[in-house]
Amino acid sequence: MCARPEGGVPKRSFGLLKEELKEQVPRIVLLIFVAVLGTGVGLIQPLLFKALIDTAIPTADLRLIGLLLAGMVIVPVVGAGLGSVNHYLRAFIGEAVAQRLRRELFNHLLHVRLAELGKFETGELIGRLTRSCGMIGEVYVTAHLLPLLMNAILLVGTLTAMTALSWRLSLLALLAFPFSYLLTRKARGHAESLYSEFSNALEAGQSYLHEVFPGLRTVRAFNAEAHEMGRWQRWIERHWHIKARVTTFHELIRTLLPEFINYAAAGLAFGYGAFEIIQGRLTVGSLVAFVAYLPRSYSVLQALLGTQVNLQEARVNAEKVDALFGLDLSPSGEKVLSDVSSEGATLAFQNVSFDYGRGDFGVEDLTFGVEPGEFIAVVGPSGGGKSTIIDLIMGFYAPRSGTITFDGIDQRHLSLASLRSQIGFVPQDTFLWNDSVSANIHYPGRSADGDRSRQAARAAQIDEFIIGLPDEYETEVGERGMTLSGGERQRLAIARALLQKPRLLLLDEATSALDALTEQKVRGAIDAARQGRTAIVVAHRLVTILQADRILVIDKGRLVETGTLQSLLARRGLFYDLYQAQSFDLA
Ligand SMILES: Nc1ncnc2c1ncn2[C@@H]1O[C@H](COP(=O)(O)OP(=O)(O)OP(=O)(O)O)[C@@H](O)[C@H]1O
Ligand SMILES: [Mg+2]
Repeated sequence: MCARPEGGVPKRSFGLLKEELKEQVPRIVLLIFVAVLGTGVGLIQPLLFKALIDTAIPTADLRLIGLLLAGMVIVPVVGAGLGSVNHYLRAFIGEAVAQRLRRELFNHLLHVRLAELGKFETGELIGRLTRSCGMIGEVYVTAHLLPLLMNAILLVGTLTAMTALSWRLSLLALLAFPFSYLLTRKARGHAESLYSEFSNALEAGQSYLHEVFPGLRTVRAFNAEAHEMGRWQRWIERHWHIKARVTTFHELIRTLLPEFINYAAAGLAFGYGAFEIIQGRLTVGSLVAFVAYLPRSYSVLQALLGTQVNLQEARVNAEKVDALFGLDLSPSGEKVLSDVSSEGATLAFQNVSFDYGRGDFGVEDLTFGVEPGEFIAVVGPSGGGKSTIIDLIMGFYAPRSGTITFDGIDQRHLSLASLRSQIGFVPQDTFLWNDSVSANIHYPGRSADGDRSRQAARAAQIDEFIIGLPDEYETEVGERGMTLSGGERQRLAIARALLQKPRLLLLDEATSALDALTEQKVRGAIDAARQGRTAIVVAHRLVTILQADRILVIDKGRLVETGTLQSLLARRGLFYDLYQAQSFDLA
C-alpha cells in the first residue's frame, strides 16, 4: 500500500454532519419534545412507589392503592410508546447523516483522478462508503449525539426530583460524578488507537475478500486453497483479537463501570438514608424513590461520558472518509466541443510526457498528429506505453508536460464530459455490467430503440451470436460479462462504442489469442467501426495493422518509428523485427 493522505481533523465529514443536522432541525425539535415528555413520564414511577409506601399503605386507602397500581402499569406503557417514537426519530436523523455522507462521497469518488483512486484498495473504498459512513451517522448520531441532548434533559429532571426528595442524599450521590469523569477521560485516549486498529482490520478483510473471489480460478489452478485458507485464517485471528478487545472495552465503559458505581452509590445512599430515617428527616417511601432514581442518574451520566469515547470511534471513521474526500478531482476545463458532424476528429500530441509516479516512464516526449478520418495503428512491445496513450487521450490521466489537442483545442481547456462524448472507447480489458446484452450495449442509457442497437451489433459482428442466445438481446451476461468469451466481450464493447456515434474511435485490442474465425470477425468489426471517423487502434494483430493508413511504433514510452506498413518494413527497424516472426508474408 502506498503512502497517502490520512489523519488530521475530519473537517469535511463533520461539516457534512452539521449541515445535515441543520436540515433536520424540525425533527430534532420534535425529538426534544418527545424526550422531555418521556423524561416526565419516566420520573413518575418512583413517585408512585413513594405514594404507595408513605400514604396509601399507612392509611389503608384501597382505592388509592388500586389507582397507584394501575398507574404503575400505565406509566411504563406510555413511556415505552414515547421511547419507540424517540427511537424512530433518532434512527431517521442518523440515517439522514449517513446517507448524506454516502451520497457526497460516492459522487466525489466518481470524479477523482484515477491515479489518486489507485492508492486505495477497492475493499477500503467499499468499507468507507458503507461502514465508516454508517458509524458516523447510524452509530454516532443515532446512538450517542442525539441521546446526549436527551440525556442532558433527563439528568436535569432526575437530579431535580432527587434533590426534592433529599438534598443531603443528592449531594452524596453527586460525589460519584467527578470520579466517573476522570475514569472516562482516561479511557478516551485508549479508545482512539483501539478503534483505529479495529477499523483497519475490517477494511483489510473487505479488501481481501474483494480480491479472492474474482481470483478463485487462479487459486484453484495453482492448488492454492490451503494458502488462501491460511491468509483468511490470519485475518480471522487478527479480527478476533481486536474484536475481543473492543468488546471488552465497550463492556467496561458502558456496563461494568457504571454498575460498580451504581451499587457503591446505592449502598452509600441506603446507609446514609437509614440514618436519616432514624433521625426522622426522611420517610421510607422517599428513600425507596430516591434509590430508584439513582441508577437513572448514573446511567445518564455514563451515557454522557460514553459519548466522549464514542466520539473517538466516529472520529477514526471520519478521518478515513475525509482521506477520500481529500483526493483531487480530475481537472476539467470549461470549453465544450461544438456538435460537429464532420468526418472524424483531429488529434495531436506535442512533446507529451507522463509517468505513473513509479520512477520509470509512462510515455516520454511524444509528438504526433492524427488527421480527420485517418486510421492509425499503434504497435510495439508489451509494456511500451500503448494503453497509456489511449488513457491520456481519454483524459484519465493528465500529462506531466506537453499538450494534447483535440480538434485544435488544448485538452486542459476542454470539458472532459464534452471530450468523452465524442470518443468511442473500447478498452483492452472489456468491462461489462452484470445485466442484459442490450443494457450493456446501451450503457449508460436504456434506450428502447432496438433497431439502432442491432445495427451497432451487426457492425460489430456480434448480432448473429446474440440472436443465438436463449433470450437474445435480453440474455444476462453475468458479473463482468463472465458468461461471454473474450472475443465476444470485445465485440460487444465495440457495439457499445459505435452506438455513441463517436468522431474518434479509440480501440485497445485485447491481447488474448483469438481463433482465426473470431479474429476475422473482430477485424470486420473494427473495419466497420472506423468508417466515417478517425480511429486509433492499438493493434496486437497483423490483420489490423494491414488496414492502417499509418503506424506508430511505441517502445519504452517513445515513438520510435512511424509511417506506412511498406515504409516501416523497408526500414528494417523495430517494426520489422517485431513482425518478422509472424508467419504472414509481409512483402
Ligand atoms: N496504473 C499504473 N500504475 C503504474 N504503472 C503502470 C500503470 N499502468 C501501466 N503502468 C506501466 O506503464 C508502462 C506502460 O504500460 P501500458 O499499459 O501503456 O503498456 P502497453 O503498451 O499497453 O502494453 P500491452 O501491449 O501489454 O498492453 C508499463 O511499464 C506498465 O507497467
Ligand atoms: Mg496495453
